[in-house]
Amino acid sequence: MLEALERRKAPANRIAGADLVEILAHLAHALRREVGVLLDRNGTVAHVIVSRRWQPLADEMGRRAGGRGSMLRYVEAHPHADGRPDDGDHQVLQLLDLDLVVTVGTSRGRPTAFWLLEQAPAGSARDGARTVVEGPYSLEMLDELDLQPLTRMADAARRRAGARPTAAGRPERAVLVAMDRSGDAAPSLDELSSLARTAGADPVATVIQRRTRPDPARYLGKGKVEEVLRTTEASTADLVLVDDELTPVQQRVLEGDLGVKVLDRTALVLDIFAYRARSREGRLQVELAQLNYLLPRLTGRGVLLSRLGGGIGTRGPGETKLEVDRRRIRARITELQREINAVQQHRGRQRRPRQDAALPQVALVGYTNTGKSTLLNALTGAGVFVEDKLFATLDPTVRRLVLPNRRPIVLADTVGFIRRLPTQLIAAFRATLEEVVHADLLLHVADASHPDWPEQVRVVTEVLTSLGAGSHPTLLVFNKTDLLTAEQVRWLIIEHPDAVAVSAARGDGLPELLGAIGRRLPEPWVRLRLQVPYGDARLMAQIHDQGRVLAERYGEEGAWIEAEVPGPLAVRLWALKIPARERRARAKGSA
Ligand code: GTP
Repeated sequence: MLEALERRKAPANRIAGADLVEILAHLAHALRREVGVLLDRNGTVAHVIVSRRWQPLADEMGRRAGGRGSMLRYVEAHPHADGRPDDGDHQVLQLLDLDLVVTVGTSRGRPTAFWLLEQAPAGSARDGARTVVEGPYSLEMLDELDLQPLTRMADAARRRAGARPTAAGRPERAVLVAMDRSGDAAPSLDELSSLARTAGADPVATVIQRRTRPDPARYLGKGKVEEVLRTTEASTADLVLVDDELTPVQQRVLEGDLGVKVLDRTALVLDIFAYRARSREGRLQVELAQLNYLLPRLTGRGVLLSRLGGGIGTRGPGETKLEVDRRRIRARITELQREINAVQQHRGRQRRPRQDAALPQVALVGYTNTGKSTLLNALTGAGVFVEDKLFATLDPTVRRLVLPNRRPIVLADTVGFIRRLPTQLIAAFRATLEEVVHADLLLHVADASHPDWPEQVRVVTEVLTSLGAGSHPTLLVFNKTDLLTAEQVRWLIIEHPDAVAVSAARGDGLPELLGAIGRRLPEPWVRLRLQVPYGDARLMAQIHDQGRVLAERYGEEGAWIEAEVPGPLAVRLWALKIPARERRARAKGSA
């Protein structure tokens, strides 16, 4: 099997194929040790590794790589279910200067889930951490994750570390600028500051301009530009973030005046989305939004796009894209739209079997960072990527779950909402929010520990209404109650008797939440064919009263009835052992 490994190849643009992972898991189990392969960027196996003595390999490769990185990735199965990267994995990532490490957990010789270990993008490393761990991912994600963005990120991390040795690990310093039109800038600025941190920048100073209308040419007034310039210089900032959408002209003029990179709110959110989007559709949508944002900003600049490409760090459309002219960007936009259509049609096909299976759909919605992914994890052990930054989730993650009343449901995570979501993104992420429109019940997750939670709940409700989901049945879930006192939690419940209070992190209140979900879902209806004895007139009447009779035929011993009835009645009929044949029916449609 070890020899067979050498001849395996990963599918193009995938981190590893399922077959390769299966073999690795099998070997790790049989040999009771970590077994891995080093793959080159073509997916060919360069080395099979059964001993973790990296140094000789590093010496040999170091001579060949010459500072460009090894352009290899390491896929390794651990001999136990916890496949999280361990010290050995961190060591090999650094020593061999790999693109990334993929670790796989195994159980009885079968792969269970996988994790990614990457070089942290320079500048965005939290607490100076040099690596990022993501996962656990379900094995299906091997098919979903593209390799290219990951290798691009590794290259970028390397380039930045090489290009700016003194700045390596130091986040870009940002001056935040907001316009206070009616004394309401503070909450929005708080959010901009979190967004900046999520994007890997360090907000170092704030400048507020009081004005009723922005200056058409440079957004800020002349005096204010002076102040921002002084602040930028005094705080040695690398960039200025404006809490608004700038016109292309304003952005250009401001950059000229200030001499540093200027990003507006839209660019910032796009930057975060670009970094976070993982599924194929998510990435296509982000690239489309980025190009649409870029296009009007090309005017008069010819092909000199290098500055615009840079968000914070090295994200944004890849460098090659920055060299293409407007015509080629338009062609790419058309192509993207076509690809997105194809992906959406595919998704539509995927959704259908789920609806046929008649499983009620429950969608988690809520302001960004309220703990939706954590809650989904806590409820299903699903292992969605969770991180203490905004927008950890961009791709809908869908899990099956069985409620205490034995009813199976489908639970979907969605992208977090923010105040003033840039319009380009509302359009771009409608697909992500499709889960919401089709849901039978929305779990609106609020961060009860956030001083601004009522406002956040309001913003989310507003966006839901704009999506046409304003009147969906909704259950309000107060999360992070572990950060409140018992007294505060009690008041919350008294004031919002229909809501449920939980702590996803500690697991408090989850049984109550599952119970509440069960009660809020529309009653399931069941289609039955049964024979009712003529003597049982009461039963017959109940079926007619509560259910919907589809067909009725009179036999010798009783009546044959085909009917759709509410769940509880179906259970009673089952208990009487009356049904001749039953078939589940779609809950909503038949009701
Ligand atoms: P987006 O993807 O940005 O929409 O975020 P999200 O709503 O999915 O939030 P996520 O689950 O990523 O959680 C955000 C942060 O809140 C993480 O640091 C979590 O650890 C933290 N968190 C989630 N639930 C709880 C909780 O019950 N208590 C506490 N103290 N922290 C929590």
